[in-house]
Amino acid sequence: MKALILSGGRGTRLRPLTHTMAKQLVPVANQPILGYVMGHIVEAGIADIGVIVAPETQEEVKAYLGDGTKWGVSISYILQERPLGLAHAVKTARPFLGDSPFVMYLGDNLLGAGIKEAMEHFLKSGPHALIFLKEVRDPTQFGVAVMDQTGKIERLIEKPKEPPSNLALVGVYFFSPSIHEAIESITPSWRGELEITDAIQRLIDSGKKVEGEILKCWWLDTGKKDDFLKANRVVLDEYVKKDIKGTVDSDSTIEGRVRIEQGARIIRSTVRGPCVIGKNAVVKDSFIGPFTSIGDHSLVEHSVVQHTVILSHSEVIDIAQMEDSLIGRQAKVVKNRGLRRSLQLMIGDHSLVEV
Ligand code: DAU
Repeated sequence: MKALILSGGRGTRLRPLTHTMAKQLVPVANQPILGYVMGHIVEAGIADIGVIVAPETQEEVKAYLGDGTKWGVSISYILQERPLGLAHAVKTARPFLGDSPFVMYLGDNLLGAGIKEAMEHFLKSGPHALIFLKEVRDPTQFGVAVMDQTGKIERLIEKPKEPPSNLALVGVYFFSPSIHEAIESITPSWRGELEITDAIQRLIDSGKKVEGEILKCWWLDTGKKDDFLKANRVVLDEYVKKDIKGTVDSDSTIEGRVRIEQGARIIRSTVRGPCVIGKNAVVKDSFIGPFTSIGDHSLVEHSVVQHTVILSHSEVIDIAQMEDSLIGRQAKVVKNRGLRRSLQLMIGDHSLVEV
């Protein structure tokens, strides 16, 4: 059994963050999404992992994952020159995959539970493909499945304008090698991509067994700011335990489940969990409210911050109330100390400021 992680593509929906970083590396509760994906694959016992990378972001993905030693697995990188679709990524990975069954895991998907049980079921029951579905509010953003009463998949459609159901395809797929033949027989969709949904539809049309299972745990596609904040909230809620490695002075209070990483300093402040405070971050004369992640080397001073993600090397100073916000790397949010009352902004491309 092998695993194929898709970490190529373009992160258009999480711009401006993804102008400068791969979307799969954007941290949720201070760990890149790819870290959670790796965790699930390693926990399932798969040791041979291929990672699809794009020319623009391959270096940082490689810098984070390395050769797999730190996870006790072997990682092979597969360069996909252009994001021509999920099925195109599988096609590009064919020399790595050979005739092995494999799990394909989209590198921007976060699942509330691992894939070990699903893998065991797949290997035992032996379908040509095993896919997972979850009810969603807006199915037009996803691949959508139509299932009959017995649970058999009848039809799959990618991003339908008029969805026939609200069952979206989750970004984890188990395949037997017969998927390669199906991919050879499809053509690009209206959006110019070789769609994996079309390839799975081919399997169904040619009478091959395709199993669908409704996912029981939560699932988040971290595409946009609000999905991303939700992912941060859910992960903080489920995974964070009280763990204080940094220093907290005697004028500060830590309430609930708060993880304070090595070298971080909490000075005359209150931190109310669930929260994570990254390595060497400084929180000074501030209140950090629930569901906040502060990245490594960032500074929050004289501010109230809650339900917010601040990535690394950023500063928030003299801000009376910051909520529901996503702050990138090396960004600064400071109160204008001058006489002028006007907003003075320097905002990157594709940014959003709500005042
Ligand atoms: O998240 C689940 C959805 O993922 C499914 O419901 C859809 O059926 C499926 O097509 C996919 O839709 P997205 O539009 O969300 O896919 P996206 O383009 O965001 O790509 C998913 C991941 O795969 C992402 O980590 C980037 C990577 N990728 C994508 C393409 C198109 C590649 O590595 N190469 C590619 O060519």
